[in-house]
Amino acid sequence: MRAVVYDKYGPPEVLRLEDVAQPVPRESEVLVKVHATTVNRSDVHIREANRGGGPAAMLLSRMVSGLGRPRQPILGREFAGEVEAIGAAVTEFAVGDRVFGTNGLRFGAHAEFMCVRATARIAHMPAGVSFNEAAPICDGALNALMCLKVADLRKGRTILIYGASGAIGTAGVQLARHFGADITAVCGTKNLELVRSLGADRVIDYTQEDFTRNGQTYDVIFDAVGKHSFKRCRDSLAPGGRYLPTDGAVNIVLALLPSRKGAKRVVFQIPPRIPKQDVLFLKELVETGAYRPVIDRCYPLEAVIEATRYVETQQKTGNVVLTLNHGQARVR
Ligand SMILES: NC(=O)c1ccc[n+]([C@@H]2O[C@H](COP(=O)([O-])OP(=O)(O)OC[C@H]3O[C@@H](n4cnc5c(N)ncnc54)[C@H](OP(=O)(O)O)[C@@H]3O)[C@@H](O)[C@H]2O)c1
Repeated sequence: MRAVVYDKYGPPEVLRLEDVAQPVPRESEVLVKVHATTVNRSDVHIREANRGGGPAAMLLSRMVSGLGRPRQPILGREFAGEVEAIGAAVTEFAVGDRVFGTNGLRFGAHAEFMCVRATARIAHMPAGVSFNEAAPICDGALNALMCLKVADLRKGRTILIYGASGAIGTAGVQLARHFGADITAVCGTKNLELVRSLGADRVIDYTQEDFTRNGQTYDVIFDAVGKHSFKRCRDSLAPGGRYLPTDGAVNIVLALLPSRKGAKRVVFQIPPRIPKQDVLFLKELVETGAYRPVIDRCYPLEAVIEATRYVETQQKTGNVVLTLNHGQARVR
């Protein structure tokens, strides 16, 4: 099968398209014929061994993905495709089913075929969506959901979402709207209308206004793009308010510190917990029209380097999809 592989950490140019052996599903696994996948920030971080995050983040990244070189040579977490074969113990899926999901740190989706444990984060595709639309359902939204679950969002609660135009942010706005919260979203000028259309009650253009200086306070501040800090947001939190980060070693430390009852605090799930039920929840939201992943660009698998360079600009709006054309373009 064709797959995008890499065998050393580095820039996007370490990626190359190759013919590799097709994986064989174990007893409890499903073999998925991948029709669409994504390039997201996790693919980028792992591929470059988190070199932008400093020595501690780099070491941690290499401990997860291989100290000297990557153990898993194929990146790609999210997928949408058809079940090609199933292991003997699989009862939930049948050959031909249309499925989507995320393989988390096991990766492997930048390939024509991948194996996924049937009990892991894989589900039948929501009705009425294409493979390209199904592939980016999971990662941004599951990250947002993991954070927002601990925020007690409901009618009457106020949330500010910073970085509302990224993969996590665009999903976060839609989820917060589903939970009934009053949403203030912060993004750049070009994304104001999009973010409003996703359900924000008001939008702030961060190139024109610094929300930390307008005197408003919020029950929850969700930093969906990892560009803010608890320190800078603190005065914009209401008493007992929670700051929800998506990134940053310092936030892990702050979240672990004991805090007084009713104090403003950082809340971060450690370790991250993303159960299969969350994928099924997202499927339901897509089917009821409460959530749709925002797609910025689609590239063919062969253009993975170009797609990755775009993701690395940190200026994508929502998600970047890779489309597979089985049996067509070969390695070049
Ligand atoms: N995606 C994942 O699966 C994943 C998984 C784990 C962790 N993370 C982490 O979560 C964070 C967000 O990831 P993501 O994939 O959602 O990001 P993303 O999609 O790459 O975010 C891109 C958006 O961020 C906005 N942005 C860029 N610089 C900004 C700034 N200085 N202030 C405010 N907004 C800014 C840009 O919008 P504007 O033009 O509107 O500013 C752009 O649309 C990252 O720190 C990432 O490392 C992501």
